[in-house]
Amino acid sequence: MTLRRRAALALAAGAATGCATAQPVPAMPVGIDGAGLHQRAAAKGLAFGAAVSTRQLVDPAMESLIRAECGLLVAEYEMKWAELEPQAGDRRFRRADILVAFARRHGMALRGHTLVWHESEPAWLGGLDARATAAAMAVHVDATVRHWRGAIGTWDVVNEAVAPEDGRPDWLRRTPLLERLGPDHIALAFHLAHTADPAARLAYNDFGCEHATFWSRRRRVGVLALLRGLLRAGVPVHVLGMQAHLQAGQPFEAREWRGFLAEVAALGLTIEVTELDVNDAALPAAVAARDQAAAALVRRFLDATLAEPAVRAVVAWGLSDRDSWVRQGRLPEHRRRDGTQARPLPFDEALRRKPMWAAIAGALDAAPVRG
Ligand code: G3I
Repeated sequence: MTLRRRAALALAAGAATGCATAQPVPAMPVGIDGAGLHQRAAAKGLAFGAAVSTRQLVDPAMESLIRAECGLLVAEYEMKWAELEPQAGDRRFRRADILVAFARRHGMALRGHTLVWHESEPAWLGGLDARATAAAMAVHVDATVRHWRGAIGTWDVVNEAVAPEDGRPDWLRRTPLLERLGPDHIALAFHLAHTADPAARLAYNDFGCEHATFWSRRRRVGVLALLRGLLRAGVPVHVLGMQAHLQAGQPFEAREWRGFLAEVAALGLTIEVTELDVNDAALPAAVAARDQAAAALVRRFLDATLAEPAVRAVVAWGLSDRDSWVRQGRLPEHRRRDGTQARPLPFDEALRRKPMWAAIAGALDAAPVRG
């Protein structure tokens, strides 16, 4: 195919993804045609998707971008305990139902995120004793998984339970549920989810494992120890979710990372990249250089990750920079000293493809086909 035809396709593809802008979509680097990320992933037996919120679905341009690029969706926050049960017993599935209906209408798979997470427990839980807390968690997990039984392919049952810095001998995080119920609440959550929907694949999801730093290495040891303990106890864990909130400026060693993924695969688990984005605070302000550096990191990370056959999905934590949690500025390390906006995701504010899109596309195109 000539370069001119490829550029025409890229422009057409740009228009097809709802880029209703006067400026032409930047021509894709040579070798990238117009196929969306979902199609590229599916061609290799992989899934590609993104975190979305129901408010994004009312924007026609975003809705068409989601449909053009995603084969898998996850609710960025509507399926969390605090959103589902703001008052004890007052369960509100309606908003997340909108997302589930959208995904099913368009033939997309769904990840459930997340049943047990210390940052999304409802406030009223704090007033309960251990017995009532255990009952509340059991009812929440059972009711939630049953509500979407058959619709959710993989559940993040427990999120971010490892925190070596909390000083426990098992390197588990000192969460309210752990302090009140002990570490066995983790296994209990998995058993309850499995009973509620035996067909759902159950994941442990965590962050901060990806880089070649002491902090990440220690977290990987803690995650592996947790997984081995759960599996030894016969707990139904099927998937490790690695969030992959990548940090530009931190070292990444492909061989080291692939060694960890191989250890996880050797446990019989599959692996999913669940929240991919790049914190670019350490990168220069100039957009072109910043975007290229972030894209290069994503390409290196995904090339190493997708070389592991047990890796089955890549989910970005949003599609467009304008919706990224990184821009919420809740973490000091997300705030750029130059005051410019973060650019963590594959599409810019105008929903135009960025170099990070090409990096993801290139990694998917280069990935080995899954059996
Ligand atoms: O809660 C309101 C909701 O009632 C309202 O209708 C809606 C309208 O926009 O806003 C909601 O506000 C906030 C929501 O983000 C939308 O911006 C929530 O209060 C706020 O808690 C929520 O933050 C989310 C956070 O998790 C906590 O749930 C972020 O969007 C989301 O990106 C972040 O994602 C987490 C993953 O779940 C786990 N891994 C880390 C990742 C980043 O923190």
